[in-house]
Amino acid sequence: MLITHASQLLTLAGGPQRGADLGRLGIIPDGAVLIRGEVIERVGTSEELERAYPDEPRLDAGGRAVLPGFVDPHTHLIWAGDRAAEFEMRLAGATYMEIMAAGGGILSTVRATRSAGLEELKAQSRRRMDAMLRHGTTTAEAKTGYGLDTPSELAQLQALLELDAEHPLDLVPTFLGAHAVAPEFDGDPEGYTRLLCEEMLPAARRWWDEHAPGRPLPFVDVFCETGAFSLEQSRAILERARELGFPLKIHADEFDNLGGASLAAELGAASADHLVKTSPGDIRRLAASETVAVALPCTPFGLAQPEYTPAAQILAAGGLLAVASDINPGTAWCESMQFVIALACRYLKLTPAQAIAAATINAAAAVGRADRVGSLEPGKQADLLILSEPDYRHLGYRFGTNLVAQVIKAGQVIDFSSH
Ligand code: NIG
Ligand code: FE
Repeated sequence: MLITHASQLLTLAGGPQRGADLGRLGIIPDGAVLIRGEVIERVGTSEELERAYPDEPRLDAGGRAVLPGFVDPHTHLIWAGDRAAEFEMRLAGATYMEIMAAGGGILSTVRATRSAGLEELKAQSRRRMDAMLRHGTTTAEAKTGYGLDTPSELAQLQALLELDAEHPLDLVPTFLGAHAVAPEFDGDPEGYTRLLCEEMLPAARRWWDEHAPGRPLPFVDVFCETGAFSLEQSRAILERARELGFPLKIHADEFDNLGGASLAAELGAASADHLVKTSPGDIRRLAASETVAVALPCTPFGLAQPEYTPAAQILAAGGLLAVASDINPGTAWCESMQFVIALACRYLKLTPAQAIAAATINAAAAVGRADRVGSLEPGKQADLLILSEPDYRHLGYRFGTNLVAQVIKAGQVIDFSSH
């Protein structure tokens, strides 16, 4: 298939974009893309490719912008139920951490998720995947973390693998048994940390080897935060995970600075995420590493909090910056990376070009997939979006409506009557 007449073909070619380099879109005016099977074979101008491939079936982009599918590198996709009542409590003045300390928050979703059957859990999550795909996300990381005991966490890994196989949206799984201290260990985070290190992580490794042999291991993530896991507990969990061969991620500095971002850099984690209260020292250490800084602007927005990730400092230090939705039932139920980009332009002070690079090639780096997705280059998976507009800057500028007209996933035009 030959896609022709993209007013602007945003290739994002050349790999992940560090520091001041962020925002290199690699635009080809009146661009075209040749797709063979699931893969991009060639990119160029419409004139070149139409001449070289006169008999190829065409898809005319009609003078609209074309770009790589979005990669959402931080999601809590798989849960049951909702927390609309807590949203009202927060509007009346309760804080997120107060609600969590009183047994609500993450733990209330753990109760709902544990009691939902696997099919119900998948059905609720599948609806979110449909919405994500419609809004242009073609690859998403997806965390467990609403089980907090071995069987429920493994059931969530199972559900993620099944959803990935059934749905065009590609999922990159993450084991987040360390999302909160399990209710059975109330007041004993040390005890739950021991369970994670001695039982849950080794069980996850055995389960993976049996159920997904040959597939890259999932990430292991920890919520390093006051009221969740301390820096020392986070280190113990991540070091144990690394010993078992898992690649790492961390939730750091969402509400308090505990040093999680520096820990991520030290341990060679793929990403450190949230990074609102991150100190200049942490930023320096992160920027000197290969760890991607993932900003989640829907979260402060969802909590109506004024502070966001210090993106300008991260870029000035030469860091790798990506953005993600953090979709979850507590702080940020948002399926749209277009809305993430709109927030990133306003609160992280990124240009539309920087925000798009952070949502594509750099987001792919945050999930270890920059060799396969995140840009339009020969050899990469053919995941593309045709916007409804000729000028890419409508992403960022506009919000609240869907500007993605067509999604092409692994070379197939998605038919939204079935998603
Ligand atoms: O990334 N911070 C921890 N996890 C989520 C919130 C999860 C929830 O409230 O259910 C986050 O914001
Ligand atoms: Fe999160």
